[in-house]
Amino acid sequence: MSPFLLTRTLPEDATEAALRADVLKGLTHTPKTLPPKWFYDAHGSELFEQITELPEYYPTRAEREILVARSGEIAAATGARTLVELGSGSSEKTRYLLDALTGLHTYVPVDVSESALTQAGHALIAQRPELSVHALIADFTGGLSLPGTPGPRLVAFLGGTIGNLLPVERAAFLSSVRSLLSPGDALLLGTDLVKDENVLVRAYDDAAGVTAAFNKNVLTVVNRELGADFDPGAFDHVALWDAENEWIEMRLRSRTDQTVKVPALDLAVDFAADEELRTEISAKFRKEGVRGELAAAGLELAHWWTDGEGRFALSLSVVR
Ligand code: AVJ
Repeated sequence: MSPFLLTRTLPEDATEAALRADVLKGLTHTPKTLPPKWFYDAHGSELFEQITELPEYYPTRAEREILVARSGEIAAATGARTLVELGSGSSEKTRYLLDALTGLHTYVPVDVSESALTQAGHALIAQRPELSVHALIADFTGGLSLPGTPGPRLVAFLGGTIGNLLPVERAAFLSSVRSLLSPGDALLLGTDLVKDENVLVRAYDDAAGVTAAFNKNVLTVVNRELGADFDPGAFDHVALWDAENEWIEMRLRSRTDQTVKVPALDLAVDFAADEELRTEISAKFRKEGVRGELAAAGLELAHWWTDGEGRFALSLSVVR
């Protein structure tokens, strides 16, 4: 039986404290915002899984296509003995990498969700009994430290989730990833690409309304965790393309003048009719932009792979 280690770098109560701080800051700010990480309670994670199967939401399928086609090249280029996967979630797509990385010794899935980590970790150990799995409960946006693991290391950040960070946050994140790496290590990064506006907007405003439910779920999370009285039905889902910043924004638009109470914060928040609360940005990238952001963090773009329709890219970069 191979070892399965679970290390908690977040105290049990850190999640609640972080949620309180984010909600206080975001709902008292103009314009109002909430960070997208709070979408992902059990129900939100389930809704996200449904999103990945929608006809309009192409990124998951496009990234899977690249992984299927290129995992062998990724394995050959990196020779990784350790795979660190940030935001591993259900680790579904990781299977292709794990299958190709024949010299792999250690797998380090990193996620804020303990349930996702344990489920995925145990499923994996059943398939790969020789692999040592060291799961980390951690918020990788806040700087990470890794357990001692054999090199070369490959850090994977898939799904296009880097697009949920603002440009300054991306720079800080990439620098913190760079600081985990030594010469010979690599970063595999998934980025959704700039494309036709209608295709992008439909991916975030699907006909079946799953993304709308996912967006409103953040209100349910705040209700449950902080005793708030948001009425999700009193908000409309909005997805729009910001052409200047080249990102999709998801918002919740208040249908009426209303006041929402957040007892845990001793807070009452006024919404004017049509006032919008920003819940997510999802940036879309171009190759030269990705190259530049990597270079600014001390990483050199070594490979750039897209799906057949050029919708999504995986880049492999190395320490300069
Ligand atoms: C999981 C962060 C990549 O930004 O496309 C899906 C989340 N939001 N639909 C994305 C999401 C709305 C998704 N990521």
